[in-house]
Amino acid sequence: MGLLGFLLMQFLLTAALGLNTTDPSCETKCGNLSIPYPFGVREGCYFKDANTDYLIVCNTTFDPPKAFLGEGNIDVVDISLNGEIRITNLMGYECYNESGSKTDKWTNSFTIGSPQYSFSHTKNRFWVVGCDTTAFFETERGASGCISYCTNLQGMENGSCSGVGCCSASITKGLKNFSTNIGTYYNYNNSKEFNLCGYMFVAEDSQYNFSISDLNDTKLRHRTFPIVLDWSVGNQTCEQAKTPLPGMPYACRSRNSQCNNSNNRVGYLCQCSTGYQGNPYVVGGCKDIDECKNNSTICPREAQCNNTQGDYDCLCPEGQRFNRSATTCDGMCSAVGFLILLATITSLCWGVQRKKLANQDKKIQDLKNKMFEQNGGPLLVEYFSSQPANAFRIFTEEELSMATDDFNKGRVIGEGGHGVVYRGMLENDKAVAIKKSKKMDEREKDEFVREMTILSQINHVHVVKIVGCCLEVEIPMLVYEHVPGGTLFDLLHPKGQQQGTLIPLETRLRIAAEVAEALAYLHSYASPPILHKDVKTANILLDENQRAKVSDFGASVVAPADGLAVATMVQGTLGYLDPEVIQSYQFTEKSDVYSFGMVLVELLTGKKPFEPIDTETKRSLAGAFVSALRGNRLVDILESTVCSEEEMEILLEVSELACRCLSVNGADRPTMKEVVTALHVLRTSRDHPWALPCLPQEAESLLGEREPMAYTTSDLGTTVSHIGLEIEAGR
Ligand SMILES: *[C@@H]1O[C@H](CO)[C@@H](O)[C@H](O)[C@H]1NC(C)=O
Ligand SMILES: *[C@@H]1O[C@H](CO)[C@@H](O)[C@H](O)[C@H]1NC(C)=O
Ligand SMILES: *[C@@H]1O[C@H](CO)[C@@H](O)[C@H](O)[C@H]1NC(C)=O
Ligand SMILES: *[C@@H]1O[C@H](CO)[C@@H](O)[C@H](O)[C@H]1NC(C)=O
Ligand SMILES: *[C@@H]1O[C@H](CO)[C@@H](O)[C@H](O)[C@H]1NC(C)=O
Ligand SMILES: *[C@@H]1O[C@H](CO)[C@@H](O)[C@H](O)[C@H]1NC(C)=O
Ligand SMILES: *[C@@H]1O[C@H](CO)[C@@H](O)[C@H](O)[C@H]1NC(C)=O
Ligand SMILES: *[C@@H]1O[C@H](CO)[C@@H](O)[C@H](O)[C@H]1NC(C)=O
Ligand SMILES: *[C@@H]1O[C@H](CO)[C@@H](O)[C@H](O)[C@H]1NC(C)=O
Ligand SMILES: *[C@@H]1O[C@H](CO)[C@@H](O)[C@H](O)[C@H]1NC(C)=O
Ligand SMILES: *[C@@H]1O[C@H](CO)[C@@H](O)[C@H](O)[C@H]1NC(C)=O
Ligand SMILES: *[C@@H]1O[C@H](CO)[C@@H](O)[C@H](O)[C@H]1NC(C)=O
Repeated sequence: MGLLGFLLMQFLLTAALGLNTTDPSCETKCGNLSIPYPFGVREGCYFKDANTDYLIVCNTTFDPPKAFLGEGNIDVVDISLNGEIRITNLMGYECYNESGSKTDKWTNSFTIGSPQYSFSHTKNRFWVVGCDTTAFFETERGASGCISYCTNLQGMENGSCSGVGCCSASITKGLKNFSTNIGTYYNYNNSKEFNLCGYMFVAEDSQYNFSISDLNDTKLRHRTFPIVLDWSVGNQTCEQAKTPLPGMPYACRSRNSQCNNSNNRVGYLCQCSTGYQGNPYVVGGCKDIDECKNNSTICPREAQCNNTQGDYDCLCPEGQRFNRSATTCDGMCSAVGFLILLATITSLCWGVQRKKLANQDKKIQDLKNKMFEQNGGPLLVEYFSSQPANAFRIFTEEELSMATDDFNKGRVIGEGGHGVVYRGMLENDKAVAIKKSKKMDEREKDEFVREMTILSQINHVHVVKIVGCCLEVEIPMLVYEHVPGGTLFDLLHPKGQQQGTLIPLETRLRIAAEVAEALAYLHSYASPPILHKDVKTANILLDENQRAKVSDFGASVVAPADGLAVATMVQGTLGYLDPEVIQSYQFTEKSDVYSFGMVLVELLTGKKPFEPIDTETKRSLAGAFVSALRGNRLVDILESTVCSEEEMEILLEVSELACRCLSVNGADRPTMKEVVTALHVLRTSRDHPWALPCLPQEAESLLGEREPMAYTTSDLGTTVSHIGLEIEAGR
């Protein structure tokens, strides 16, 4: 097929699809915003397939004209062919006056209707600015957000968003819709001299720097920041897209382009091949780069540069040959003695070649060794070899790659803000779970090492066992025993099911008792004692017999020997997090007890602690549960499937126990050991009923009293870390 044939075919293809990508009458600008194909401002000027189109609406009634995403009202400020576009967002806020009355509030929501866009989880963050501010964004999969609290300006730094005055949370992958909400614990009473408003917004990571003056800036609410949306073409992989189906044309139209599967989304993106630049979505869009013109150092001085299609050549003087890797002109052997030379050269070259290969292998090995060292490998090897008969193993990258089928997506059994968990099969046919973090900053590396050392010391039937780790990679990986039954969260809240789950009360109590035993062990018998710090049903795994195993020790700490509280970052999951921690920054054993109390409530009610009981009052599960118990309305809140006349007595007693665990004052909560005993007595009494003394109805628990303030905002479903947390949507 000649050039004419090729052009004709291109033309026919174009016409058949009703596309005219090169139509010169198509506007390529809206105001000063460039709109490159596949985007376009009117029919015939943009790419289109069965599911979507790439229309950008340019409204010229504004001066300068404004661009909007499709028919919506979302402002577009930048379009890039590398798979990103930028839109702007308004800020949500809530303000109080000095006497603690709310003066202003605005929250917003965002819906991206078109299938080809989603919020970039790598480039955006959810930012919160304020000194008594808890803000979150809700998605269909859960909520996510953070808390910022401060009583003075000390400890704040311009540019540092660390939970004092400013906090931020990451965005979940593939996010398309969210709504935001904002609240306060003390109505800015403790910061009223310098901050009376809280602000929240999603913005590109690099585009917001916290400044202390923002706290007192009444104009902040009018500022806009760009949000990055990822876009891609189609719903297929490159492989599938190259044989187009009706209605799903292949978008990489330029002959000198290539297709890359989108990293962040379904679908693909087009890119000009190396040596070319331009627009890969347009026929003839990728143009040859004239390397000779742009770059004088590309050829040795004595050579002449000759540009070729997609490449270049350096024409060396007669008798010399261009050596690309060294950018030199090398002499060639003369014909004299050619045959003799050939033999020596060949053997020499072989040697060099082999050495080169060996060098390359060595480089990789060196890198692996470096990572191993960076990740504390030698120390750990020493540590573990000094531990008696420890089954802990250090795996190589290759072993884990083989165990997971090269980290095959089909092997993923869990995914969260912290990383991805794969199901793996070791060579000895032993099933394991392999946790691979996404990326790690220093804090997360610390958490990793902490989790590894803590878990490796624990040997308890209800605590998930760590089998080993891999340190050769930049991001170290942890290998656990495989616990096949899913999480307690999933058992209690099966996906797509609104009705109560039919788990017998006995099972619920047994699981509670097992979790309590594990925590009591961590608190009392492990040496030194360990605080879990993130007890929640999503961190409780179930084996094939529904036996509980407590997992996720990423946040855990070894308690100081003097039994004092641990004053670190506030970390935990909203809804399960002890309200005392938020006030005092102190995490104690009793904070785990509070979280356990919430697990108990979740077991009894089947409700999610991070979701408000009533969307109108935003009343939290903890508050609603305590007041139902106090008001003799327990029946209203208990899971209907466990609530029966003959079980009422035991339900009351378990509820009392949960209620004690949820006491606002940590000192009033039982220890985990006491909980274990109480649950044991309750479970045996269920077989042989006898009356237990009812706990005194404490003069209206503090919980009830403080509820409006301390709880209205705890309806977040996420992991808080730092006082500004980092939340994972969902659980
Ligand atoms: C495509 O653009 C060319 C040049 O403007 C025009 O002649 C042709 O009619 C257009 N084809 C279609 C299908 O719009
Ligand atoms: C494009 O317009 C925006 C808003 O009007 C302005 O901020 C920006 O500086 C302009 N850019 C150029 C290159 O003119
Ligand atoms: C442009 O914006 C104005 C003001 O918001 C609106 O009234 C008008 O309908 C818009 N025009 C188009 C074509 O969307
Ligand atoms: C705060 O607002 C409340 C209600 O709007 C008002 O009654 C009160 O006087 C205000 N206080 C101050 C100091 O402005
Ligand atoms: C922080 O930045 C603001 C303005 O951006 C400036 O006025 C202030 O002096 C800075 N404060 C410190 C402690 O650097
Ligand atoms: C986002 O919201 C729109 C409209 O409310 C809805 O049609 C769409 O299914 C939602 N998208 C996702 C991913 O839930
Ligand atoms: C504000 O704090 C002060 C001192 O901490 C306290 O006396 C006062 O009752 C608080 N006011 C409100 C409205 O909470
Ligand atoms: C906050 O801003 C107001 C007015 O803009 C100013 O009078 C006040 O001194 C500022 N306070 C602080 C602590 O910066
Ligand atoms: C934020 O601060 C960093 C470091 O000071 C600076 O490089 C960057 O340009 C700033 N970004 C913005 C949007 O101000
Ligand atoms: C992509 O979308 C087309 C048209 O809606 C549909 O027929 C096809 O099944 C989809 N393919 C995939 C892999 O989802
Ligand atoms: C010029 O070419 C050299 C060698 O290929 C390359 O390293 C360098 O980055 C190029 N410089 C520019 C400005 O393209
Ligand atoms: C330079 O490259 C072109 C191909 O792009 C080739 O036709 C031409 O012969 C080359 N010139 C020399 C002097 O080799």
